[in-house]
Amino acid sequence: MGGSGRDGTVGPGWLVDLEDRARAVLPEPVLRYIGEGARDEVTLGEATAAWREVRLLPRVLRDVREVRLGGELLGAPTRSPFGVAPMTLQRAAHPRGEVAMAEAAGEAGVPLVLSSNAGSTFAEIGATGATWWLQLYMTPEREVAARLLDEAVRHGAGAVALTVDTPVVGTRYPSPAGGRVWDVADPAWLGANLPEEGRTPDPAHRAKAMDLAPADLAWLRERSGVPVVVKGVLRGDDAADAVEAGADGVWVSNHGGRQLDQAQATARCVARVREAVGDRATVLVDGGVRSGLHAAVGLALGADAVLLGRPLFMALAADGPDGVRRALALLHDELEETMRLAGCADVGALRGVVDTGR
Ligand SMILES: Cc1cc2nc3c(=O)[nH]c(=O)nc-3n(C[C@H](O)[C@H](O)[C@H](O)COP(=O)(O)O)c2cc1C
Repeated sequence: MGGSGRDGTVGPGWLVDLEDRARAVLPEPVLRYIGEGARDEVTLGEATAAWREVRLLPRVLRDVREVRLGGELLGAPTRSPFGVAPMTLQRAAHPRGEVAMAEAAGEAGVPLVLSSNAGSTFAEIGATGATWWLQLYMTPEREVAARLLDEAVRHGAGAVALTVDTPVVGTRYPSPAGGRVWDVADPAWLGANLPEEGRTPDPAHRAKAMDLAPADLAWLRERSGVPVVVKGVLRGDDAADAVEAGADGVWVSNHGGRQLDQAQATARCVARVREAVGDRATVLVDGGVRSGLHAAVGLALGADAVLLGRPLFMALAADGPDGVRRALALLHDELEETMRLAGCADVGALRGVVDTGR
């Protein structure tokens, strides 16, 4: 898994073990697709290291007998401030793909964000009873995406995360070992909710809007009636504009280093985004988070929740829904320990335990 360190020096041992077992079961082109980043993979390579650069200033003399990780996120109760980031191709990891992922997320009490390219239907996801949101790529013809969103909301999607960092799909160089994932992917792994004409195997060939604007956010909110989160924001000014235009949340993300290479690490962007939006919006972050400690850093810098992609894909491949449940439980336990050590009895208290040098 790019950026997570294969030598055990980054992230906890359980993750390294999980990766090893996932590697043993996943075909090479799928592994490459999951792990890859754009171009020279500079952003991918820096993601986890950037979380490790941050230093905490723990509080002391606080009662940490009871620590509360639960709360509310975009109107739904959560048991931990984690979430499953949207990823295509989960049916390459497990025959039940996103459904198995949703079951595990539901049991852990954290939201699942379903990729608009998912290989499982909205009805199947809704039937799991998990809290879930739709990740949306806007189409040039707005109505096409809107119809997808209508369907998702009808099946219980509690929010929509509009991905704004992908006007085009960033170039990723072919694997030295050869073999493209789209040559081995079963067409049933993708596009279960897309209209017939949108179902090309390679998502890069699906048309995406290149003229997204703040006005799209208010329109999406009005149309769907659910909270709108903008996924892929790194700048404070963009975050403030999105919230001004009606977004309920801003998701600090560089798409796991898969879009613009040399984009800044998300760990270095959370604080400025929180500062720009104040308490007017929910702030989410993803990218290179590989432990409960990294998550604590994200929360300390101002995020309300932290989402993970690749590690949960690996957990699904290695052990199915049980693996994802276990990974989320370990992350919960690591965060709980970190909160005690940092003198924080609830997630809100973590805000600001970071050393800003001031
Ligand atoms: C295999 C894979 C597929 C992805 N598919 C999507 C997608 O369909 N939509 C989207 O907004 N982000 C997608 N992402 C980006 C993730 O949602 C997330 O931003 C990123 O993976 C987080 O970084 P991490 O994997 O280091 O935790 C994908 C990432 C991976 C690894």
